Amino acid sequence: AADFRIAPSILSANFAKLGEEVQAVIAAGADIIHFDVMDNHYVPNLTIGPMVCEAIRPLTQAPIDVHLMVKPVDRIVPDFAKAGANLITFHPEASDHIDRTLSLIREHGCKAGLVFNPATPLSYLDYVMDKVDMILLMSVNPGFGGQKFIPATLDKLREARRRIDAHREAGGQEIWLEIDGGVKVDNIAEIARAGADTFVAGSAIYNTPDYAATIAAMRAELAQ
Ligand code: DX5
Ligand code: ZN
Repeated sequence: AADFRIAPSILSANFAKLGEEVQAVIAAGADIIHFDVMDNHYVPNLTIGPMVCEAIRPLTQAPIDVHLMVKPVDRIVPDFAKAGANLITFHPEASDHIDRTLSLIREHGCKAGLVFNPATPLSYLDYVMDKVDMILLMSVNPGFGGQKFIPATLDKLREARRRIDAHREAGGQEIWLEIDGGVKVDNIAEIARAGADTFVAGSAIYNTPDYAATIAAMRAELAQ
């Protein structure tokens, strides 16, 4: 599949000029803005919420991909929908009623997704595949940018890809397979071969001087 999407994580952007940083990666060829929401409860860090999403919304047409690392999940979903989120993903361990939360996200007009920590089993998908628009596999433990890619995620990607393709063949909807954590120019090709189609990259893009050159290098790797 040649349909790859690059999703820079603004977690590694310069927050003192966040608007410019959002526009810079889109101008540099990115497809999606990945928006990491951390609550100092579900994960040991604290980041940004719906007000910041609302502030960047007018700055780009690109989809905003809100990755919720918060517990509880449900009460913040309507706020992000109102703030202009296009996709909202959450960790199944952080919701007491996973099926309900997936429905809630779609009822608010957003695409819905489940996020799997490195040790979280894909079996959470078993009975909700019809309600999932995106599967996000964490290739680091959530909470911080700049960590190293956990290699066991490659097998898990292959398993997720099998599930998505089988679901599609059985007449199911399209589901994106996103990877998040430690994605770099030098491993993105291998990650794509394992089945990912949507690539979050924070430090690999924002910690380089030329975002366009980095994104072009990623696309060149994906084109192989
Ligand atoms: C980690 C976040 C990631 C993070 C990725 O909890 O979900 O989106 O920003 O950062 P890098 O690409 O630097 O690993
Ligand atoms: Zn993320």
